[in-house]
Amino acid sequence: MADFQNCDSCISSPLELFERVTAQGEKVRSLKAEKASTDEIDAAVKLLLSLKVKYKAATGQDYKAGSPPVDFSPMSNNGPTTALDEDFVDPWTVQTSNAKGVDYDKLIVRFGSSKIDKELINRIERVTGKTPHHFLRRGIFFSHRDMNHILDAYENKKPFYLYTGRGPSSDAMHVGHLIPFIFTKWLQEVFNVPLVVQLTDDEKYLWKDLTIEKASEYAVENAKDIIACGFDINKTFIFSDLDYLGMSPGFYKNIAKVQKHVTFNQVKGIFGFTDSDCIGKISFPAIQAAPSFSSSFPQIFKDKKDIQCLIPCAIDQDPYFRMTRDVAPRIGYLKPALLHSIFFPALQGAQTKMSASDPNSSIFLTDTPKQIKTKINKHAFSGGKDTIEEHRKYGGNCEVDVSYMYLTFFLEDDDKLEKMKQAYTSGALLTGELKKVLIETLQPLIAAHQQRRKQITDEMCNLNHI
Ligand code: TRP
Repeated sequence: MADFQNCDSCISSPLELFERVTAQGEKVRSLKAEKASTDEIDAAVKLLLSLKVKYKAATGQDYKAGSPPVDFSPMSNNGPTTALDEDFVDPWTVQTSNAKGVDYDKLIVRFGSSKIDKELINRIERVTGKTPHHFLRRGIFFSHRDMNHILDAYENKKPFYLYTGRGPSSDAMHVGHLIPFIFTKWLQEVFNVPLVVQLTDDEKYLWKDLTIEKASEYAVENAKDIIACGFDINKTFIFSDLDYLGMSPGFYKNIAKVQKHVTFNQVKGIFGFTDSDCIGKISFPAIQAAPSFSSSFPQIFKDKKDIQCLIPCAIDQDPYFRMTRDVAPRIGYLKPALLHSIFFPALQGAQTKMSASDPNSSIFLTDTPKQIKTKINKHAFSGGKDTIEEHRKYGGNCEVDVSYMYLTFFLEDDDKLEKMKQAYTSGALLTGELKKVLIETLQPLIAAHQQRRKQITDEMCNLNHI
């Protein structure tokens, strides 16, 4: 969940970026030497160019082969960047120069996934008999892989299960982190299926400046926020990698199978790893892949090795599952299906996602009503005009307005949302009034979350593991 799901941390360091540009350059050269397909070469060149742009934004210098960065000005990450003309999306970084956010249609083409279109949404409605969640109706979950297989299985009364996760990089989760969990809860409810939630505390230990103990502690804290989303406790298994891997032979066998079938070259190509990354990072993707196979959880699925898996996640996690889907048939397993969400924008604008490492960009689940109000009033990027007169005359722009974007996530009432959009666009509704609606929508939601979390914390005092 780069950061809305994943790595808050990981605007790469200039040196890491330097190494990634170098590795990508090598990759382009070897693809050309091997006479790979033009599509493959074009995609690699595109990535190389965007890495170079990123390198320049981070260091203020052009990339020069063989000359690692010596003196650089750190990249500012609290304001919109205009230097980039390419969207950049990987599990660690999300960046675009467009105030409307990442071009998701292009991303679908680049990643080779499928759009969640009206037809698929109608099928979900027909099959489940339930109104599709507003995240589906509003294109927040916008892309998929093999969702039709899941619906076929469901119609044929074949079982499937859900798998999602979270990298516990701090004890502070923000509202953006909740998006996949809110949606997963809905899926669990309408399909009535088991769910496994992986807390990758090992991943955060490997990638961040954290001790093992701290990473485990964050996993427990984050688990409380996840449980507070209201999953069916009889059908949900939440585990931390550092805790569960050592005691589950089924899980570890699957990790080893994946490790045997993915080469260093492949993970370099998919994740941009370089020769100087620690071997923990290089083998980690196998650990995120393993929960996609039901035999990793014999305590839940007994000896059933072929139960189909569906993974709701933010689109930045797709590289892990492209790899997983590639190995699955080679180790005798079904490919997991996926549902991808867009990113949750930072308060400052949709050029990047909300990140827990920048407190001004985020509304945390621990924020008080007053903090929520102040942050939105002070930091939420507005698509309104500079003066009331101009705003009344020309109207506001919902496409870049962060408060409006947040309402599409959290205001469930379609009619009300549509009315606000019209009123804001026409200039009848002012920025301050739009922000007020957002504040009044978020405050009770976060207060209710805090209350459920507190209850869980109290109950957990009686349990000794998650
Ligand atoms: N890597 C993800 C993160 O950093 C955590 C994760 C593990 C995950 N397994 C997943 C996210 C499956 C979505 C689906 O947040």
